[in-house]
Amino acid sequence: MPILQAQGLKKDYVLGGHTVSALAGVDFIVDQGEFVALMGPSGSGKSTLLHLIGGLDKPSDGEVTLAGQRLSILNDNQVTLMRRHNIGFIFQFFNLLPTLTAEENITLPLIIDGQNPRQHLDHINSLLQLVKLADRRHHKPDQLSGGEQQRVAIARALVTKPAIVLADELTGNLDSKTGAAIMDLLRQSCDELGQTIVVVTHDPRAATYADRVILLKDGLIAQHTRFGNITDRAQRLRIVMDAVEALEP
Ligand SMILES: Nc1ncnc2c1ncn2[C@@H]1O[C@H](COP(=O)(O)OP(=O)(O)OP(=O)(O)O)[C@@H](O)[C@H]1O
Ligand SMILES: [Mg+2]
Repeated sequence: MPILQAQGLKKDYVLGGHTVSALAGVDFIVDQGEFVALMGPSGSGKSTLLHLIGGLDKPSDGEVTLAGQRLSILNDNQVTLMRRHNIGFIFQFFNLLPTLTAEENITLPLIIDGQNPRQHLDHINSLLQLVKLADRRHHKPDQLSGGEQQRVAIARALVTKPAIVLADELTGNLDSKTGAAIMDLLRQSCDELGQTIVVVTHDPRAATYADRVILLKDGLIAQHTRFGNITDRAQRLRIVMDAVEALEP
């Protein structure tokens, strides 16, 4: 069942009388429980696409349908609620609130949504277990390592049980070993919780944790790569590297 559908998505930016076509007509579908990686050269439109499917920005043309809801017919307030209920975001720079503990940061989306966190204690505890931070729950962000902060951000993205988790370069600020552990955690949330995930990444190794890779070039989808039943990570890495190489002129 498709949880996300992008149809004919275009995005033009006009700067000083000059138009930049960041997305030139993108179509794709993400099914429930799928884990998709978006790759492509710098400036190919990855972040723009993620912003459009997350309702953070509006397309110049085309339509995003998320959890059965067309975003174009929603007003700003409805889009905000849609985001709050259906989307978990993870960013490169973690974006945690510095004055709150790990547990409070994880709980925050529930509070913003007007829910009583006490009714979700079991869920919050299980998320702390999932991201292996049960013993760090009272730590503030500056008392946590970069990898630990990103694990808080993952638990925060999962806490509302969103229809989809969107992440932009979530390992971009971490060393490769920590980045691999973070991708492994997303893989686990996909396998164990059935979480649908779309990540933007520059890193072919990070992309090997997904079920398939969509390659963007000049604002268009240049290639779809599916791993199918290939589980060997080295073999997956070669497939991604070959696809990336084939893109180059
Ligand atoms: N707010 C903006 N105003 C004008 N042009 C923009 C804006 N945001 C992005 N662009 C342009 O749109 C194109 C796509 O940008 P985008 O940020 O989506 O690329 P990206 O694939 O995420 O690149 P990177 O890998 O460097 O993050 C680029 O040419 C960029 O300069
Ligand atoms: Mg980007």
